[in-house]
Amino acid sequence: MESGAGNLSELKEKILKLKKEKNALIMAHYYQRDEIQEIADFIGDSLALARRAAETDADIILMCGVHFMGETAKILCPDKKVLIPDMNAGCSLADSCDPKEFEEFVKSKPDHTVISYVNTSADVKALTDIVVTSGNARKIVEQLPADEKIIFGPDKNLGEYINSVTGRNMVLWNGACHVHDRFSLEKIAELKKEHPGAKILVHPECRRPLQLIADKVGSTAALLDFATKDDAREYIVVTESGILFEMRKKCPDKVFIAAPAEDAECQCNECDFMKMNTLEKVYKALRDETPEIKVDKEVAEKAVKSIERMLEMS
Ligand code: 13P
Ligand code: SF4
Repeated sequence: MESGAGNLSELKEKILKLKKEKNALIMAHYYQRDEIQEIADFIGDSLALARRAAETDADIILMCGVHFMGETAKILCPDKKVLIPDMNAGCSLADSCDPKEFEEFVKSKPDHTVISYVNTSADVKALTDIVVTSGNARKIVEQLPADEKIIFGPDKNLGEYINSVTGRNMVLWNGACHVHDRFSLEKIAELKKEHPGAKILVHPECRRPLQLIADKVGSTAALLDFATKDDAREYIVVTESGILFEMRKKCPDKVFIAAPAEDAECQCNECDFMKMNTLEKVYKALRDETPEIKVDKEVAEKAVKSIERMLEMS
């Protein structure tokens, strides 16, 4: 039970009523708490969320995810009100790419095309030629001429993965996500011994050794799709554990095991930023129409080009 605004089912009813009255669209990333995924109109990975935001006719978009997801929606829909449940829900990966430092990096390689992962601030997107997500990075890079010089930021693990599957030699920014970068190869190997038939599903934000032992490397949506179509009974899931909710819903007869992180003391396979959002905050955001995402007009005008380029190419 959450405090202040009643129990979960009452809250859900209030949210659904407000949503109708205000013509709002509630979107949720797969890493959101189960109860938020339950009330969302649309659940997806970062690519699907951006696509869905771009085509909505709702007056309000309530983005249950982290700040950069709200910003991406706002950049794509400047005339809509974009709300997020908690303004402090940031992203360690986006924070690992300071716009000023990135600008210097870009300036130091003037003949390079700049590709940035969607997990970046609007300021970084404004310095970018093409935005990508983990769901389309390979496809987009493969459309560029083989000799194109490319800067890829900020996730070094995703960058290494894309270099390995495309044979490119993109220059990588040294950023990482505090959740995906901390999964332990040793612990996953132990888990595999206990469950020899289990397939290993790995998000490309994880380190290279984990990518190498994976049966499938992919975005949250790609991992979900693989599990749905594959014939194994058990899976070790090496990404934020929120995805297990949708996996179990889609495949009730299969067993999904959340991979442990290096530090057994902490819930390191959970993104504390994603989990800042609660159902009560969703309700309050919709009721009070705050916190609202704002993006500087000039920054948004530059950033939208790199996001639209991604949507065209994927
Ligand atoms: P997806 O692109 O697979 O949604 O993952 C991005 C991510 O890490 C969100 O935190
Ligand atoms: Fe950012 Fe990592 Fe959390 Fe995704 S899981 S929102 S990349 S900190």
